[in-house]
Amino acid sequence: MHQNEFPKIERAYLVGVQIRGTDAALELGDSLDELALLAETAGMEVVGQTSQTLNSIVPGTFIGTGKLEEIHQAVKDLEAEAVIFDDELSPRHQRELSKVFGDDIKLLDRSALILDIFAQHAKTKEGSLQVELAQYEYRLPRLTRQWTHLARQAGGSAAGSGVGGVGLRGPGETQLEVDRREISRKIDRIKRDLERVRVHRRQHRQQRKKTGVPVISLVGYTNAGKSTLLNRLTNASVYARDQLFATLDPTTRRMELPSGRQVLLTDTVGFIQKLPTTLIAAFRATLEEITEASLLLHVVDISHPSVAAHIEVVEDTLAEIDVPPVPRILVWNKSDLVEGSGIPQFEDSNMYASQVVVSAVTGEGIDDLLHAIERVFARNLTRMTVHIPFERGDLVARLYDIGRVLNQESVIDGTILDVEIPTAHEAHFVKFQVQASE
Ligand code: GTP
Repeated sequence: MHQNEFPKIERAYLVGVQIRGTDAALELGDSLDELALLAETAGMEVVGQTSQTLNSIVPGTFIGTGKLEEIHQAVKDLEAEAVIFDDELSPRHQRELSKVFGDDIKLLDRSALILDIFAQHAKTKEGSLQVELAQYEYRLPRLTRQWTHLARQAGGSAAGSGVGGVGLRGPGETQLEVDRREISRKIDRIKRDLERVRVHRRQHRQQRKKTGVPVISLVGYTNAGKSTLLNRLTNASVYARDQLFATLDPTTRRMELPSGRQVLLTDTVGFIQKLPTTLIAAFRATLEEITEASLLLHVVDISHPSVAAHIEVVEDTLAEIDVPPVPRILVWNKSDLVEGSGIPQFEDSNMYASQVVVSAVTGEGIDDLLHAIERVFARNLTRMTVHIPFERGDLVARLYDIGRVLNQESVIDGTILDVEIPTAHEAHFVKFQVQASE
């Protein structure tokens, strides 16, 4: 399931729907452009597209029957092999639409496409398991006799993927039931495997926390330039390509700020509008890395016409995974692609501690970014020297947990520590504070 699922270039036809009165993140045309990019990233060739504005989704076939006829005809004329809907199709829509297009046309939706791209790009064990889980959970309710039949012929793709391996049929069981049982078993197995990988990751994170080095997380819409910025900041060689979702697994690198302060930078999966819900659920653990960061760098592509919508999608997704209100810097990347490098005006700009315009490719503005990061740390961290009595060993442990211990010395009745902690915790330790010379 993790090899390239589109081994040959398939000809794809795109369908977008706008529901009157609803408020989508992107305009229909922009959303279809993005879908075309997703299809290309998955290795397909877009041969045509259409859209329809409706008062509401048509219960059976998602779009109106007249439009459906038109699409069917266009698909034949253009010799398309796949039809991709820009919205997630319900199992019922999928069933009804497959009846219209027949077995030879692959029917996909945005979610299936994103899941396939993720499957192609997952590199670590955890990433692969998470995608596999999301794919099976997406497929389980959509499994039909027709589909499993298709899957066995085609050998697997997002829409027609089989369950891989056909279980033995019990008495009175249909093939479909066997397949469902098989998928459910696989889901259970993957969840167990994931739990094992996660225990390991948690231990690793705990260790990292003990070092007290603050973590900065790069977040942003897919293709905004997070990996390139991480490379620029750390001179690391992280995979950066002009593809959607080139980065799937978090990558962590150490970096030194101009003041000499050590920080860890982590790159995370890019966000996109209409991210499949099964995927967000499966990736929750990876995304939780973001919730532990001391600072977020929200990277945006200043040259993209839909940049405001991208910012909104990213902030909404962060809210969905309960990221606490840690300080954020808005990094307007790709300044080399636009005339003039001022900071664009937009609503909600006051939620950012700072805004910087940079080019991760040319290096322009990177010094400003480093200083902006320093300022945020200086503003949010307090340095103090405390004298903790022996009976409050728990407080020493706590200081290690929440901050950075710069120096520690045992004295006759306790421990003197020189620490740097988040300013929000300062009040708890004030009564133990001493002069540095004590
Ligand atoms: P995902 O993996 O999809 O989340 O992408 P990402 O945000 O990590 O983006 P990545 O760093 O892979 O960059 C996407 C594309 O934008 C690549 O082709 C980069 O070379 C390009 N890019 C990144 N930063 C800049 C920049 O400052 N200027 C220009 N011109 N291109 C850039």
